[in-house]
Formats: sequence, structure tokens, C-alpha cells
Amino acid sequence: MLCGLQGTMEGDFTGKEMYHLNFDPKGYFSMYKNFGLGISPGNDERIRFILEHLHKTFAHDGIRGDTLIDIGSGPSIYQLLSACESFKEIIVSDLVEKNREEVQKWLRKDPNAFDWTPIVKYVCQLEGNRETWLEKEEKLRRTIKQVLKCDVTLANPFDPLVVPPADCVLCSCCLEAASKDVPAYCSAMKNVTSVVKPGGHFIFVIPIGATYYVAGQSKFTNLCVTPEMVKVAVKEAGFEIVHFENLSVDFPVELSDTKSFGFLVARKCNKA
Ligand SMILES: C[S@@+](CC[C@H](N)C(=O)[O-])C[C@H]1O[C@@H](n2cnc3c(N)ncnc32)[C@H](O)[C@@H]1O
Repeated sequence: MLCGLQGTMEGDFTGKEMYHLNFDPKGYFSMYKNFGLGISPGNDERIRFILEHLHKTFAHDGIRGDTLIDIGSGPSIYQLLSACESFKEIIVSDLVEKNREEVQKWLRKDPNAFDWTPIVKYVCQLEGNRETWLEKEEKLRRTIKQVLKCDVTLANPFDPLVVPPADCVLCSCCLEAASKDVPAYCSAMKNVTSVVKPGGHFIFVIPIGATYYVAGQSKFTNLCVTPEMVKVAVKEAGFEIVHFENLSVDFPVELSDTKSFGFLVARKCNKA
């Protein structure tokens, strides 16, 4: 049983109230705004690792279907650029209204929306055609059908809505941020994966060994997890692990103390 183990974090847990008050999407974009300029090599390496694995998972490993739900999306869309070629509908979700509003701005091409162009071009290059980036943006805009409020601490993260079971749930760097200890982490894992259909997939991007990350002027705690802890939590939620990959990173301390990033693909057991 994993839930008896201790995770660690630096400082007091930054819970939901702190997210609602202090999560600054514009500050968080500093994680993404210098992509490809060589300014933050450890962070670039992280983004490339995630994008390359998402590309491989959707384009080559055949994970596809009708609906994908991204849980804890933040103000970001980069994680959905490959998925929109493999799913008919994508649901984006986050706890914080300002984050959901940033995604809406990008969807309606608001001039103040964050410019994801360098990352979109990189994904198009992975797919074999860097010139099609404008079409890729349009395709993703058409595929995102809803932007919902979610809270991973609730048994139904979309309460009061009930979303139909999905073919795939994606969750990147959210559960470690949302959980104050290991029992809370295991419970959040069960909550978010409860919306996966039997036989469907859970794709999980994990900051390993991190106790904090920074968004703008605010520092947020992370539950410090190991690959072993993550794998046990995923199995306890009723999944078999299909694939796990871990990339060590020399991450800029002004952004986070993450030691490595995990990329995990799991399949829901039919009886779960
Ligand atoms: C490190 S960001 C990750 C954002 C995005 N997935 C990415 O990869 O860039 C963590 C996100 O978790 C969200 N979050 C924190 N607590 C949450 C909760 N209880 N339920 C849902 N989302 C939560 C925050 O609002 C924030 O957007």
C-alpha cells in the first residue's frame, strides 16, 4: 500500500485558496515563452521530452478515440497539439478561472492570448511538416469542445457536471501540485482516472523529486514523488502500466527543483 508512505514538500502546502488568489497565468507562461531560444536549456529539454512522447503515443502507438479529457490544464494548450489528430473531441479543465479564461482567449484568437507558435511549429515538425502550423492551431481550436472547471480533490472532479466516460485522460504536472500528502495523491489519482472508460488510457506527465515550482511572483508546493510511488498509485487506481520513461533534467532553480520528468501511459483494467 502506497498511502502509508511519506512524500515531502518544501514549506506549507499551497492549497486551492492559494491557487485561486495567486496563480498568475502570465507568470506561469515564463515556463514556455523562451522555448527554442536556448535561454533555459533544462526547461526546453523538458518541453521537447513531453511533446515527443505525446507525439509518439498518439501518432505511432495508436492511442485514439472519441474523447480525451485534459485535467489540470492550467492556461496551457501545448499538451494537446498531438492529441487533436487522434481524438474527435477534447475537454480542457482546471480549478482556476483565470487559467480557463487564458485558454478561452487562445480559442477565440484574442490578441492578448499567449503566443504558442514556437511550440506549435515544433510539433508540426515532429509530424513531418513545419509549414502546417496555422492549420494545426485551427484543428486544435475545432477539437476543443469544452473548457470546464475541475477539482481533482472531488470524487467527481467536474461536480456538479457528470462527464461521460472518456477514451483517454491526460494529466500533466497537476496532481503533485494539488496534493498535500500521499493519501491525498492516491485519492486524486482515483478521482481523475474514474472518468476513463474500461480499456481506455491514462497519460500522465510527472515532475519527479520536485518540492516547488514558481508561477509569476508566487511559489507553489509540489508533493515530492518518485517513479516507484507514481507507478504504485497508478496500479492502485486500477491500471496496468504500458510505458514509463524518465528524463533527468537540470532545471532552472528559479522555476522549480524538479529532478526529472516522468511520462507514463497506463491502460484501465476492464474490472477497475
Ligand atoms: C504546474 S500547473 C500544470 C498546468 C498544465 N497541465 C501544464 O502542463 O502546463 C498545475 C495546475 O494544477 C491546477 N490545480 C491545482 N490544484 C488543483 C485542483 N485541486 N484541481 C484541479 N486543478 C488544480 C492549477 O490551477 C494549475 O493550473
